[in-house]
Amino acid sequence: MTVQWFPGHMHATRKAILERVKDIDVVIEMLDARLPGSSANPMLAQITGHKPGLKVLNKQDLADPERTAAWLAHYNSLENTRAIGLDAGMAAPVRALVAACRELAPHRKGMVKPMRVLIGGIPNVGKSTLINTMVGKRSAKTGDEAGITKVEQRIALDDDFYLYDTPGVLWPKITVPESGYHLAASGAVGRNAYDEEEVALELLKSLKRGYAPLLAARYKLGSTPAEHEALARMPEDALLAAIGKKRGALLPGGKLNAQKAAEVVLNDFRSGVLGRITLETPEEFQRWWQAGLAAEAAKAEERERRRADQALQRSGMRVQRTQD
Ligand code: G4P
Repeated sequence: MTVQWFPGHMHATRKAILERVKDIDVVIEMLDARLPGSSANPMLAQITGHKPGLKVLNKQDLADPERTAAWLAHYNSLENTRAIGLDAGMAAPVRALVAACRELAPHRKGMVKPMRVLIGGIPNVGKSTLINTMVGKRSAKTGDEAGITKVEQRIALDDDFYLYDTPGVLWPKITVPESGYHLAASGAVGRNAYDEEEVALELLKSLKRGYAPLLAARYKLGSTPAEHEALARMPEDALLAAIGKKRGALLPGGKLNAQKAAEVVLNDFRSGVLGRITLETPEEFQRWWQAGLAAEAAKAEERERRRADQALQRSGMRVQRTQD
């Protein structure tokens, strides 16, 4: 996998969450509804998994409604977990959020036992936009709290409802290559961490599987079911070339400008002009996750075997030297 990023501030954020989580009643994780599994932060799950959790599938306006429903059903079937879909265009996002949290921790209410909620999410998931909506409406940002690390801010959403914000950090998802590509395609990963052409090819592989008619419509590559099927069977590089040709991504002499064609595909996906798309289903993600874990375990076993071999060799040499 060539999507490689260097997560900034992850240790400071981990420490801040660890400090705060003891006093927290509900943990909200904001996810990108176009890639719910890949946009989840395994570090957050690891250190807050014992608390009731609200999964917010944000940017649902860009996601495939059917797949969003499948992801919501998946999360809602988990113990101690609720899930809601949100987007920046919604009239009352705060009400939906507060109601879901109250359902998860009904015993927390009133000034003596206020609800304390932690909100986390990877960068670009739309957390600042949502928080600005909340802060703008309520004008109730209370700023940094003494004694608690400076990276955190507290927002009062009600007299007995406090939201603790954490910085958006991306944790390396070494175990799942598909997640790297999906995060890069969504814009969550910095430009320097990946090759745009490679990510665009992976994105096309995924899009032609589930969304061939949307691709065909956007790039005028046919309108009949037979043409959609033909598009779905095209190798990704041929598809990228066809898109590049349609959109004038050409070098002098008429050769494909693959970089420009890749940018077209990525920008069209990110802005939503391709249509409402979700890159993964709960079942697919579960499969990739299990495969990733198995690959990690195999690598760890191989490392252990090599270490044991080297130790054996060293002790063999020592015996040899003693005999000499
Ligand atoms: P972050 O704090 O989690 O890093 O994310 P932020 O709110 O900065 O949002 C990242 C981008 O996602 C912004 O676009 C924002 O407008 C967009 N966004 C946030 N929520 C939604 C949503 O529900 N639906 C859609 N379609 N977009 C959303 P940008 O182009 O980076 O910035 P801007 O030009 O909008 O300011």
